Amino acid sequence: MAYNLLKGKRGIITGALDQNSIAWKVAEKAHEEGATFVLTNAPIAMRMGEINSLAEKTNSQIIPADATNVDELTNLFVQSQEILGGKIDFVLHSIGMSINIRKKIPYTDSNYDYYMKGLDVSALSFHKMLSVAKKLDAISEWGSVVALTYMAAQRTYPFYTDMADIKAMLESIARSFGYHYGVEKKVRINTVSQSPTKTTAGTGIKGFGDFYDYADAIAPLGNADAESCADYCITLFSDLTRMVTMQNLFHDGGYSSTGVSDAIMSKLGVESK
Ligand code: NAI
Repeated sequence: MAYNLLKGKRGIITGALDQNSIAWKVAEKAHEEGATFVLTNAPIAMRMGEINSLAEKTNSQIIPADATNVDELTNLFVQSQEILGGKIDFVLHSIGMSINIRKKIPYTDSNYDYYMKGLDVSALSFHKMLSVAKKLDAISEWGSVVALTYMAAQRTYPFYTDMADIKAMLESIARSFGYHYGVEKKVRINTVSQSPTKTTAGTGIKGFGDFYDYADAIAPLGNADAESCADYCITLFSDLTRMVTMQNLFHDGGYSSTGVSDAIMSKLGVESK
């Protein structure tokens, strides 16, 4: 059911690779809620071509941009304003990539070139995006920016390797930039800390399937799926959350507040009373 929560709002949505991507669901929901937006992804991801069907479905244009490249990001914000006819009201940062994870390199043996690449793509890109937007004064007052993160920034998940450190940086950028952009332009910046989700980035992590089941058994509501994550992002882009900024918001079915669950205890063969 749509509520017209984003009627008249203009946005930029990064990271829609295929139908499983969290960003894909956000784009579908934003369209349903009355927003107009530009879709963007790294030029290499475009070659797969799936994004074209999303653009068609949501009446959106696509602007390729490598999120590590300041010139390409500048072009993204300049062109998006031209296409959409005004300043941007919401931005989704849904970008994550670790070569150390992809190559299954243990955390303690991290390759530093890969580590730096992961940092640039998955965390610094957020700073670059915000800095470009601020210099161009491209985001409207009370605009809302959301980046997706994972709880390995607070607690250790050994298989998440360098991305744990990278997500901690991403969350810190949301707080630091959120202060400055808030004071100067009332722009809001938050991170959403999402449950394990079956996407290209998610399933690339070693042992993801087992861990997905574990988290599902801990969370009282079960794992939050990509569609419900998109719903949550839409509320954050809407005016109903206009005083929320600089927060890391857990969207995980209660996982982060649960120590242990009866379901996990019974898997261990322990009966609860
Ligand atoms: P996905 O693989 O569908 O999306 C990742 C996107 O990052 C892809 O569209 C990819 O093309 C894009 N990307 C990579 N390098 C880029 C670059 N240089 N410039 C621009 N775009 C680039 O996977 P998913 O899961 O939808 O990931 C979205 C976000 O959600 C990521 O930040 C991820 O860490 C986060 N997240 C995912 C969880 C999961 O279990 N899938 C859990 C918590 C957070």
